[in-house]
Amino acid sequence: MTIEYNKDLTALTTFKVSAQAAIYAEYEDEKDLLKLSRTPEFINNEFLHIGSGSNLLFLSTFNGIVLHSRIKGIQKYVKDRENVFVIAGAGEKWTDLVDWCISHGIAGLENMAGIPGEVGASAVQNVGAYGAEAGDFIHSVVCFDTESRKTVTLKQADCRFGYRDSIFKNKAKGKLIVMQVSYRLRYDTRANNLEYAPLKKFAETLGRIPSTREVADEVIRLRDSKLPNPALIGSAGSFFKNPEVNKYFFEQEIKPRGIEMPEYPSDQEGKVKLSGGWLIDHAGLKGYKIGGAEVWPKQALVIANTGNATGEDVAQLADLIIKTVKIKYGIELRPEVNYIDSRIKVTVLGSGTSKGVPEIGCTCPTCMSEDPKDKRLRASILVETHGMKILIDASPDLRQQALRIGLSQIDTILLTHQHYDHVGGIDDVRPFCIENDLPIYTNPQTAKDLRRRLDYCFREHPYPGVPKLDLQEVGLHPFMIKGLKIEPIEVMHGSLPIYGYRIGDFAYITDIKTISDEEKEKLKNLEVLILSCLRVTHEHFAHLILPEALALIEELKPKRCYLTHACHNLGKHEEIASILPPGVEFAYDGEVITIN
Ligand code: EPU
Repeated sequence: MTIEYNKDLTALTTFKVSAQAAIYAEYEDEKDLLKLSRTPEFINNEFLHIGSGSNLLFLSTFNGIVLHSRIKGIQKYVKDRENVFVIAGAGEKWTDLVDWCISHGIAGLENMAGIPGEVGASAVQNVGAYGAEAGDFIHSVVCFDTESRKTVTLKQADCRFGYRDSIFKNKAKGKLIVMQVSYRLRYDTRANNLEYAPLKKFAETLGRIPSTREVADEVIRLRDSKLPNPALIGSAGSFFKNPEVNKYFFEQEIKPRGIEMPEYPSDQEGKVKLSGGWLIDHAGLKGYKIGGAEVWPKQALVIANTGNATGEDVAQLADLIIKTVKIKYGIELRPEVNYIDSRIKVTVLGSGTSKGVPEIGCTCPTCMSEDPKDKRLRASILVETHGMKILIDASPDLRQQALRIGLSQIDTILLTHQHYDHVGGIDDVRPFCIENDLPIYTNPQTAKDLRRRLDYCFREHPYPGVPKLDLQEVGLHPFMIKGLKIEPIEVMHGSLPIYGYRIGDFAYITDIKTISDEEKEKLKNLEVLILSCLRVTHEHFAHLILPEALALIEELKPKRCYLTHACHNLGKHEEIASILPPGVEFAYDGEVITIN
C-alpha cells in the first residue's frame, strides 16, 4: 500500500489536462485494501476510484483520496468443452485481458479490442464497442464494501448494466470497490459477433468467418482510423453518450420540426437511440476549437487535447457542443466523461416567500419598487457541482425561472417539504425527463403527499406526456447521488419537520423556525449558508424573522450567509442589505454564489 499527498495525476489520465488530488493511494490486494480502509486518510475523506483515467476530466483539485487498484492476475476455470470462466483482477489492463483470451482460444471480448482502461472499469462503465458490451459477458463482480469492510459478490443481474452504465456508477458509487471481474466466455477461435456494419463488411470481403484475432486487428485498425492515438493526443474516447430518448418525445417534438436524422433501435423499451457523432458533425462542429481543445475531425463524438488544453477549455467546448446541438436538433447530449469538480455554483432562482414579491394587489413601497432585486419569485435554487445540476425545490415559478437562465438540464431534484410554493412547479420538469426518469429525493412525508397530489404521474399506465419521476424517500442519513454526498438536515417549520440540505461546504435551509442542537452540528464549518428569513419584526409561528435569523447565523458561524424566502415586509433590498452585519447578505433572484 502506498499513500502520497498533493499528487499530480496529469500523467494518470488520458486527457492529459492538469489534474491534482489531495491524497493518492494504491493497493496490491484485498488485504491491502482492508488495511487502507482503516487509515484516517480513507475514513475522513471522500474517495474517487480511478482506473487508467480514461473517462475523467479534472476541473479542480480532488480534495479527497484518489484510489487505484493494482490487483492483478488472469485465470480461467473451464466449465465444459465450450464454456469457460475468465477471472481478472481489477488492475489488469483491459487490452491485456482481451489479448490473453484470444491467445488462449477464448472468444467473446474481441470486438472490444483496443478500448483503453482497466478490468475494473469494464464493470463500472460497462465498456462497449462494435456491437459488444462487457456487461453481456460479465458473470459476477467481486467487490469490497467500504461500509461493512467485507467482500461482496454481485451477480450479473445485480450489476444493473445499461448503456455505459451500472450500479457502480449510481447507487454503489462511493460504497463498493470492484476487485475482480468474472466473465463467462466460450472456447472458440472464430468470431461470431459480426452484426456491426463495418465488421459484417470485413467478413464479406474475406469471404469467410474471421478468427477472433482477425476481428481484434480489424477493430484496432478501425479505431486507429477514427480515434486519436492515445500515445500522442489526449482524449477520453467518446466524450458524449449516444442519446437514447423517449420515443414519444422524439415522435411528437422532434420529428414535427421536419428534422431528419439516423435513428437506431434501443435496448430499452419506449426509447430510440440517436448518434451523438452524427448530431455534432451535422451541427457543423467538426474541427471546432476552444483553446487547446478540439472536436476531433475524424469522429465528432471525441474531444481531443491538441497539446495544451486546460480542463476549462474542454468543458467550455463540451458546453458549446451541447448548446449548439440542442438549438439545431432539440436533443440534449450528455457527457460520458465524469467531471471532477468540487467547486459549487449556486444560482438563486427565487428568493421570495409563498406569495412572491410584489404580492398581487399590494401597493407597499417594496411591492412598488422598480429595483429588479425587489422582484422575488418563489424560493428555489440551482446547485451545480461535479458536472451535475441539482434543483432544490420546484417552485410554482419554475417555468419562468428556467427560461430566465436558459436552463435545459436538471439531473436531480431535492425537495425540502410539500408546501405548494416548494413543489408547485413539478409538472414543468417535463423537458428534463426525456432520457431518464428524473430522480426526486425528499422525506417520506413529502413523498407521500406528492404521490397523492401528482397521482397522474404515478399511475401504472400514465398519460404519455406526463413528467416521468423517480421519487426516492430519504431518511436523515447522508445519501449519495453519483458519488456526491448529500446530507439532509431536519428543521422545524412550525410543527412540521422538513429538510434542508448540505452539499460539501454549502447548505440550504429554508422555511425554518427552530432546529435541534443535534442538527445544528451538521451545519458547522460552512463556507456558505442560505437561510430563510421572512420579515424584520412580528414573530411568525413557522418562520424565522430577522433578529432570530441573525442569532442563528451568529451561532452557526458560516463564512458567508445569504437570506432568502423574504416577504415584502422584509423591505427593499437596498435598505436591508445596508443594515446587515458583515458576512450576511440579502439574496436576490438571479444571484450567483460560488464556492471554490
Ligand atoms: N457519425 C457521423 N459523424 C461523426 C461520427 C459518427 O456522422 O463524426 C455517424 C456515423 O455515420 C455512424 C454513426 O454516427 O453511422 C455512429 O458512429 P460510429 O460507428 O463511429 O460510433 P459511435 O456511435 O459514434 C460508439 C462508441 C465508441 C465505439 C464506437 C464503435 C459511444 C459513446 N461511443 O461511437 O466508443 O468505439 O461506437 O462501436 O457509445 C468510447 O466509448 O470511448 C468509444 C470510443
